[in-house]
Amino acid sequence: MAELSRRNMLIAGGAVGALGALTVASPAQARSLWTWSPQGSVAGTGAGADPRWVWDEEADPLVASLLDRGDVPRVNALLRTWTKNGQPLPDGLPADLRDFMERARSLPSWADQGKLATAVEFNEKRGLYLGVLYGLASGMMSTVIPKEARAVYYSQGGADMKDRISKTAKLGYDIGSRNAYQPDGEMIVTSVKTRLVHAAVRHLLPQSPHWAGVADEDIPISQRDMMVTWHSLPTTVMQKLRAWEVPIPRVESEAFLHSWQLGAHLLGIKDEYIPASWAEADSQAKQVLDPVLAPTPEGVKLADILLNLGSEIDAGILSKPVLGSFTRFMLGDEIAAWLKIPREPVWDPLLNAAWGPFVAVREGLLPFPLAPKAYWTFDEFLRRAALLFLSEARPISIEIPETNRPS
Ligand code: HEM
Repeated sequence: MAELSRRNMLIAGGAVGALGALTVASPAQARSLWTWSPQGSVAGTGAGADPRWVWDEEADPLVASLLDRGDVPRVNALLRTWTKNGQPLPDGLPADLRDFMERARSLPSWADQGKLATAVEFNEKRGLYLGVLYGLASGMMSTVIPKEARAVYYSQGGADMKDRISKTAKLGYDIGSRNAYQPDGEMIVTSVKTRLVHAAVRHLLPQSPHWAGVADEDIPISQRDMMVTWHSLPTTVMQKLRAWEVPIPRVESEAFLHSWQLGAHLLGIKDEYIPASWAEADSQAKQVLDPVLAPTPEGVKLADILLNLGSEIDAGILSKPVLGSFTRFMLGDEIAAWLKIPREPVWDPLLNAAWGPFVAVREGLLPFPLAPKAYWTFDEFLRRAALLFLSEARPISIEIPETNRPS
């Protein structure tokens, strides 16, 4: 690896086998062999190479060059005006970036508008669960995914977690909105911008002495890491909904999966790694997500920041114990212990006793004609209020970082 600079490795992001062979695998990586077959993917075919050694061969060299050329402030200013899927790209973008973004924003041939319409029905009925699950199952789980916790902590956004979370929450909001992938929606824009942010992080983090001092890798955010995080989102959400016995029609659960398959594609994940079905997603998650969960000092600090987010409103009196208790309820005692979340004598038993009946009553009322719309209105209000609070009522703009966390 001596002659391979990190930059060269980034440029060679797609040269899977060669990098895998050249880079010394740590024991943990060596243990977790990649055996998931591309036949189970939306592509249905592929080389079957371990995505641990694949990054983003198109976006990575491009964004590295934008950073080197000093173009990022200008690009960020221009992209602030690009907010809707159907909107043309702003004039004045560097030609290479414009070409890339035109390709990156187009939906793949397998995008299915019928499924996307059904996903709207699913989101309408289950918006409340989705909000709670994205925030407290997926969000808190991200703090016990070591590579993600370190990347988030030492990147620029790690210094202002409220801002960082408002941007991530925007993706959760956009994918669940009625017009997510329609011309007046925002999910395509959010995903393509996030793809650029991830490419910047791959260039910047290796220059952080703090990250380099603790990371067990040279370049962050491999395609395998992307799938790990992806599973902490839709796969974990669907597993929880099944565990809570929420009766979801098959077409709706497949539609929800489809909206996330498209999200993965737009984030730059190769089709050969995106699971084609929930069964395939569960089997991939078992291989890549479950074995990596572990505490890190960075993850513990991030979790503490997340649990304190409501403190501005109630000085943490109610919000911290409730959020902690929800986290324990969602992720279990072991993860709660890793994150140093105390037991809550009132909330823990209450959630255990009341959540099942709450879900049952809510589901029991769903057949009534006005229930789905009423749920949507109420849940939409909560989602907007949460986003407004997190963003401090400023427009949320996902921007390419130029630096890492300073300390
Ligand atoms: C940025 C979502 C995977 C690390 C972002 C942003 C979003 C996002 C919406 C923009 C927010 C911002 O600019 O702060 C996702 C999704 C993923 C994924 C949906 C997978 C499906 C990962 C993985 C890692 C990671 C695997 C690390 C191992 C980061 C970092 C930033 C970021 C470090 C930039 C923070 C900053 O400096 O501002 N991600 N991400 N992400 N993501 Fe991801």
